[in-house]
This record gives sequence, structure tokens and C-alpha cells, in this order.
Amino acid sequence: MASFPLARPYIAEMEGYEPIDPPEVVARELGIPSETLAKLDGNENPYGPSPKAMAALAGLSTAHLYPDPWQRELRRVLARGLGVDEGNIVCGAGSDDLLDVICRLWAGPGRRVVVAPPTFGMYEFLARLYGAEVVEVARRPDFSLDVEAMARALRGAEAICFLASPNNPTGNLVRREELEALLTTGALIVVDEAYVEFAEQGWPGRRYTFYPLALERENLMVLRTFSKWAGLAGLRIGYGIMAKEMAALVLKAKMPYNVNVAAQAAALASLEDLEVLRERIRAIVAERERMAQGLSRIPWLEVYPSQANFLLCRVMDRDAREVWQGLRRRGVLVRCYSHPSLRHHLRISAGRPLDTDRLLAALQWLNEGR
Ligand SMILES: Cc1ncc(COP(=O)(O)O)c(C=O)c1O
Repeated sequence: MASFPLARPYIAEMEGYEPIDPPEVVARELGIPSETLAKLDGNENPYGPSPKAMAALAGLSTAHLYPDPWQRELRRVLARGLGVDEGNIVCGAGSDDLLDVICRLWAGPGRRVVVAPPTFGMYEFLARLYGAEVVEVARRPDFSLDVEAMARALRGAEAICFLASPNNPTGNLVRREELEALLTTGALIVVDEAYVEFAEQGWPGRRYTFYPLALERENLMVLRTFSKWAGLAGLRIGYGIMAKEMAALVLKAKMPYNVNVAAQAAALASLEDLEVLRERIRAIVAERERMAQGLSRIPWLEVYPSQANFLLCRVMDRDAREVWQGLRRRGVLVRCYSHPSLRHHLRISAGRPLDTDRLLAALQWLNEGR
């Protein structure tokens, strides 16, 4: 890599984040129309924004003005729905933006970031970008957290710990007792609930979410997003729930105009369309289960249970990347990984019934050795 004068060497030399390509780019590469792709690689919502969100976007009249830097209306409506105070909420351009602000505030040289791979790669990427030490504490074979080892890594250090619940890509939830044990270390614990609405089968949910606990604990923060359950991934809108003092700090450190006007309008309209969105969540969860059944009939795939809108599979006796490539050639996009812990795995998002049919047909085709 070229060395640029004054660029911080550790950033110039570090690995970048591996994002997914948009459908039109992949379609061009494959020489097929993008509408014919089964896009199951990004954990996106195949049904898109809700009807009220679409109407809000079509009627948007403020695109020439800067957005509200404090997202007052959205925070007020979110607070009412969640039963918290608006001072407990911070909005971001997706949860990625909030992860960035958190690392800006808490990660840095001399600080430690503890992650539990396999997990969402953004945590490690951002921690390294801000110059923190990254400690990886591998999950157990059933993907539960090795809490004792994590607590050892957190105790006595100026540390943050990122946990996804449900975890991407393993699909399992953080258990309450695991979280309680980690909170006793005094480290900042960030629980990323990007997929929790699929476990809850609606918004905001009460059964699996940890946001009520975040109001009571000064070292816990919960992140949520509109990307998955509300189908707004392209607009970039997420939020965090935390104690007021912590929220004030995060509000201070974020970029003032981080959430654009279209995203704020679509998020507000989504919160008025909860019944439609709940039905879509149910359809996606039903499709995930149908997909799991179909995948379990492929002899060289092992499917793990999932509470999110995707499934993780282990590929046995075959090269996972070759399977990924074979599916891609047939217009079926799934996620494969270069991280050693996931070299033999594929993650497949739950899509529309048509997408599942195409996936299962393509796998059958590969199974028959064609
Ligand atoms: C666990 C997890 N957190 C956060 C995100 C990013 O969410 P957003 O679109 O809100 O930035 C993702 C995206 O795939 C994710 O898997």
C-alpha cells in the first residue's frame, strides 16, 4: 500500500471492513438483471419500507434544510413507545454511526475492546481504527459466551465490550445472567440489538431486550436500528437507549447533522405503521423456519438455530467459498467469510418465499453435482 505523508501508520496498515456490494454492481458482474437476484447476503428486509414510510418519503418537503441536530421529534416518539424519557435516547445514522461515536468516546490507545467472535466485524474494525487494543474471547462451541474469560479480559482495564443479541452471524441471544456477570466488571457493556425485533416478533418488545436494564445501569447501553425490522437500511437510522448522563455525552460527541431528514421522516412514519411491520416480521420469521427445514435436507449443511432474520450454516465436506460461488453464479447471494472461525460457514438471510425457493433449488442443483 502507498504510504501517505502524515497518515497514521497503524491505520494505513490495518485491514479494512469488508462490506457487501449493492445488487446493481453484482448484477453487472454476473451479466444478469438485478431484479432476478435473490439477495440474501445483507440481512436486509426484502419488503422495504412500510407504506406510511414510503408516503412520508414521497411527500418530503424539507430536503433543502439541515435536519434537527437533536432529532427531537423522533426521540420524543421513540421515548413514548419505549416507555422511557427522551433524555435516554440518542439517534444515529444507523447503529454503525453510534458504534463509531462510542469508540470515539471510549476506545483509543491504552484502552481495551473485548469482542466475542464470531460476531459483527464492525466492532473490531472501529476499535482498531481508534487505536484500542482488541481482545477476542472466542465463543463456546454452542456459540454461548465464555463469560469467565471475558470478565478476566475486562476487569481492571479501561475497557468496553460489544455484544450482539441476537448475535450476527450465529443468531443466538445473550442470556440475562451472562450480561449481569459482565456488568459486574465495571466495563462499559454495549448490547447491540439490531435483530431483536425478530426474536420479539414486533417493536419494541419486552421479553428479550435489555433496554429497561440500560436505564438502571450506568455501564450498559443498548443499540437498536430501523435497518432490519423496519426495512430502512438504505436510509441509515438507528438509536441507543442509556442512562441520561451517558446519553448527554454521546449527544455531545456525535456529528450534529448525523441523521438526515428523509431518515427521520421515514422512521417516524414506521412507528405509525407497526401492525404492517409486525406482519412482515412474522412472514420473515416463518420463511426463516421454512428455509431451515429445506437446508437441513442438504446432507452437507448443518444449520444452527437463529432468533434473527438469517441462518448460519456449516458447510461439511465441501469448500464453503465454492458453494458461495456456485450459488452466486445462479443469482443467489449469500454471505461467506474470511475470518478463520467462519471459513466453513455461510450466512443466509431470510427473504421472500420466492427467494427461499430459488436458494433451495440452487442448493439442490449443487447437491446433484451439476
Ligand atoms: C449486529 C449488527 N449491528 C449493527 C449493524 C448495522 O446496523 P445499521 O444498519 O443500523 O448501521 C448490523 C448490520 O448488519 C449488524 O449485523
